[in-house]
Amino acid sequence: MGKNRDSVDAAADYVACARRLGPLADYVVINVSSPNTPGLRALQGRAALSRLIRDVGAALAEACPGNMPPLLVKIAPDLTGQDREDIAAVVLAGPAAGLIVSNTTVARPEGLRSRHRAESGGLSGRPLFAPSTALLTEMYRLTDGKVVLVGVGGISDGADAYAKIRAGASLVQLYTALVYRGPGLVDALKRDLAQRLRADGFESVAAAVGADHR
Ligand SMILES: Cc1cc2nc3c(=O)[nH]c(=O)nc-3n(C[C@H](O)[C@H](O)[C@H](O)COP(=O)(O)O)c2cc1C
Repeated sequence: MGKNRDSVDAAADYVACARRLGPLADYVVINVSSPNTPGLRALQGRAALSRLIRDVGAALAEACPGNMPPLLVKIAPDLTGQDREDIAAVVLAGPAAGLIVSNTTVARPEGLRSRHRAESGGLSGRPLFAPSTALLTEMYRLTDGKVVLVGVGGISDGADAYAKIRAGASLVQLYTALVYRGPGLVDALKRDLAQRLRADGFESVAAAVGADHR
């Protein structure tokens, strides 16, 4: 869920959306990291985020009595160290179940070759892998492995998914690679991932979550 571009009260948008769609959802994501909606990323600040999670959590609990879908917060890779610490503290306080790490970046990493590299907007795919995985590693450390982390950013094969899992993700998502490889990618990636897990002696994905931290 995101707020509308012209909303004065951002929290009211998220709450209305949670009330309406929460009962239909397997999980609900507070997106405070899209670079395309002015002012949206400011909601990642400690006070604003804390209020947002509290209000959306209350709306979901009311709309889905006894059956509240997990609430996640999707964050940007372009956060300061202070932002990262604040987000970790806010999420640990509940009622959000965890974080999706990460959305696209407004940074332009070294080495981009496209003639479009200076365009504004969010950058996804391969160049996002390193910064989004570094953020995932840090959020795992800051939350002591106590919250659900969903790894996303530049995943295009089993090795990438495995790296996210070892960094602390218990779920992964991919978007850009599907544009280039199509839906068959999911099956290939799962086979590759299963092989890598077995080769390293892990009996399940769960057993490998956060392995790089141990
Ligand atoms: C064209 C495009 C549209 C996107 N729209 C959304 C969106 O509406 N909400 C959101 O949370 N993330 C959105 N994302 C971010 C992706 O969900 C994902 O977090 C990001 O692209 C990194 O993953 P990837 O490298 O596998 O693409 C969008 C990304 C792209 C490229």
